[in-house]
Amino acid sequence: MKAEKQFVEKLNKAMIEDFVAVNKKRNPIAKNLAKDMKALQYVIGQYSIFPKNIVSFLEFAKNKAKEMNWKNVEEEIIRNMGEELGSKSNGITHYDLLVNGVKEELGLDISNIQISESTKNFIESMKSILSNKNPYYIMGATYALEDSAVPELALVVEWVSHLFIEITGKPIQDKTLKFFFDMHLGVWEPGHEEGLRNTVFEKISSEEDRDNFEAGFREVLKTMDFWWNGLYNEASQN
Ligand SMILES: [Fe+2]
Ligand SMILES: [Fe+2]
Repeated sequence: MKAEKQFVEKLNKAMIEDFVAVNKKRNPIAKNLAKDMKALQYVIGQYSIFPKNIVSFLEFAKNKAKEMNWKNVEEEIIRNMGEELGSKSNGITHYDLLVNGVKEELGLDISNIQISESTKNFIESMKSILSNKNPYYIMGATYALEDSAVPELALVVEWVSHLFIEITGKPIQDKTLKFFFDMHLGVWEPGHEEGLRNTVFEKISSEEDRDNFEAGFREVLKTMDFWWNGLYNEASQN
């Protein structure tokens, strides 16, 4: 139990210190473009493609859990996918909450935006990482998605709040977008992180398992860094 706690602390430290994606001070958009309205609109549009694909990412981990006969892991991932697809939001997927909120509250239509080069690379890299043969590697990669979700959405909500003031003259209102961010930050994502950690860590028994888990975890963060740097370049050129 103690070893597990230390391992998670080590991963969390690496997430913030060794990578820029969810580091508030070092994420390239947060650092350079957090006041640039045009860039932020661009980034929110591209960002939405990530939640649009999240269930297809989780599918890899679910299939691997099934193959390994890790019942509790599989059930947790199915529960997680269920939430993404609307089990706690009136059947409305999380992607649709975001897109509908942005449309109704900010007047921006991001439902049909064209996927950029960097976003396309990100989605493809994620799928290739999650196609790894090693189950611990895949779980580490999936855990990186869940573990980074809260600090990542904390950045995104700041940008959306900023757009809100600029576009509507008011702070974020008590509607769909607020629900989307409040629930992700306070309930859904902490639940995904905890659920995956508790079920997967029961299966980790050797140093080798742990190394594979960490390798998958780091690979996802590396890919996210690549994406954010790419988005930064694209947004600055727009
Ligand atoms: Fe979600
Ligand atoms: Fe999640």
